[in-house]
Amino acid sequence: MTHESTMRTFGPTRRRVAAIGQGTWKIEETAADSATLSLRRGLDLGLTHIDTAEMYGSGAAESIIAEAIAGRRDEVFLVSKVLPSNASKRGTLAACEKSLARLRTDRLDCYLLHWRGAYRLEETIAAFDSLVRDGKILSWGVSNFEVADLDEVAAIAGAGHPACNQVLYHLQERAIEHAVLPWCQRHGTAVVAYTPFGQSSSAFDPRTKQGKVLDEIAAAHQATPRQVALRFLLRHPEVFVIPKASSIAHLAENAGAATLELSAAELAKIDAAFPRGRPRRGLPMI
Ligand SMILES: NC(=O)c1ccc[n+]([C@@H]2O[C@H](COP(=O)([O-])OP(=O)(O)OC[C@H]3O[C@@H](n4cnc5c(N)ncnc54)[C@H](OP(=O)(O)O)[C@@H]3O)[C@@H](O)[C@H]2O)c1
Repeated sequence: MTHESTMRTFGPTRRRVAAIGQGTWKIEETAADSATLSLRRGLDLGLTHIDTAEMYGSGAAESIIAEAIAGRRDEVFLVSKVLPSNASKRGTLAACEKSLARLRTDRLDCYLLHWRGAYRLEETIAAFDSLVRDGKILSWGVSNFEVADLDEVAAIAGAGHPACNQVLYHLQERAIEHAVLPWCQRHGTAVVAYTPFGQSSSAFDPRTKQGKVLDEIAAAHQATPRQVALRFLLRHPEVFVIPKASSIAHLAENAGAATLELSAAELAKIDAAFPRGRPRRGLPMI
């Protein structure tokens, strides 16, 4: 089964990566056997971009992923993150070794700084460069970085960096569209939308004004409101989404968004129902 239509180029890496992936925050709260099965089912459905972090379950999420990708490593675009508190040069190198050991793999496809902390970016980036030279990571990026932070990364590391910026992006939180997304578009940086369904389910409640809009568009395509929501985020070719789903039905629904096509008029209706709001100071994150 090929999923070519669902793949896009991941920033400057030239890698073709599944636009819809699988998040793994809190995956360890699901029984390990069924979490493994869900991740594998997600891979079968083409959700081959797996996002994790040393923080998730204090390493437990990475151990579950190891089980799920055993024998299938080459299918997966595997991303993990170093905690800011570990992001000194030596700390980053050590954290990466631990993530690789827990994931039972010899490389990460992309390694991210989870958010900006107290260590100088030069230190973390020096560690990332050294990990790239050793083949332990194939690319590196950042998460929760606003424009000033991105400018600093580009000044230190030069063109082609960071490979991605993973940020909060959903219908009710469109702050990145003001400056972060345009920065990434100008610099060829991939944007990975985390928490793509948002922190409240009101957008998907057909009794609300917003929910009604999604519901009507979904019905016209025999799709679901959540598929429409993912598709709206993916209207920018730089964007990837990493919904987390432990239920097989949810995985299938999320994967189904890959082939949905929304018209310009439908995108405009969603834009009006979920206004992006005014620019604010700072970047929202959870
Ligand atoms: N870089 C960062 O700072 C950062 C921060 C937050 C998250 N992340 C990453 O982004 C990933 C996604 O974000 P998230 O986990 O916060 O939120 P999310 O993916 O927006 O939502 C996850 C929740 O939605 C449910 N769900 C998934 N598909 C569904 C569907 N089709 N219908 C109904 N419910 C559905 C899941 O339920 P079930 O599990 O029961 O299926 C789960 O409760 C995380 O797992 C993590 O990998 C990164």
